[in-house]
Amino acid sequence: MISNVLKWVDSKPYTRNLVPGDSIYWEVQRKIGGIEFRYWNPEKSKLSAFLVKGGKIFSFGPRSTILYLGAANGTTVSHISDICTDGRIFAVEVAKNPFRKLLTLAEKRPNIVPILEDANQPDIYSRLVGQVDIMYQDISQRNQTEIFIKNTFMLKPGGIGYLMVKARCIDVSASPARIFKDCKLELEGAGFKILEMVNLEPHEKDHAAIVIEKL
Ligand SMILES: C[S@@+](CC[C@H](N)C(=O)[O-])C[C@H]1O[C@@H](n2cnc3c(N)ncnc32)[C@H](O)[C@@H]1O
Repeated sequence: MISNVLKWVDSKPYTRNLVPGDSIYWEVQRKIGGIEFRYWNPEKSKLSAFLVKGGKIFSFGPRSTILYLGAANGTTVSHISDICTDGRIFAVEVAKNPFRKLLTLAEKRPNIVPILEDANQPDIYSRLVGQVDIMYQDISQRNQTEIFIKNTFMLKPGGIGYLMVKARCIDVSASPARIFKDCKLELEGAGFKILEMVNLEPHEKDHAAIVIEKL
């Protein structure tokens, strides 16, 4: 059950530490019922901000398989790793510096598979990934929606996708609301069902999370 690994204390989310004693980004740790949990900071993780802002669709379970695009040094990946204990997170990151930290993280957490690649070229890693239950993307690039769509062939039918949109990367002159609407239209046009959209302010300025289902 997800409630064993994700708990709320004083309206703040915590995940059960898969590697007790280990801290990933100096996050606060606390014992709940004698078990160690890590504070999932919404200022450091857009998935936490999504939950704190009332996001309802949370499909991450103990055995979920996930394609994660834009893993950076693994802050959010580490919390998903706490939750999807017996699943697998294929974590794609293009930059070498954060990837080194991601590698160190994966050494202690066997459910993380780090992949040093460009998410614009999914054919390079798709055979390793196969078909996944969930896709999550947090990439600050102008073509972020295009990157998301071109990776969805690895998402199972009925699978859930989370796209964290950074409006200012797409167009600095347009209003974020307009950009979020355009992203939704682009995703609908590509055949996905929009399940939910959550604005991530004040945790992340000009960001929204769009949740889709692959039909
Ligand atoms: C905002 S950070 C991600 C933070 C991370 N998701 C977290 O919550 O811990 C965006 C990351 O996307 C990576 N990125 C940008 N373009 C990419 C691409 N084409 N393929 C893979 N990663 C990319 C950047 O190097 C950066 O580490």
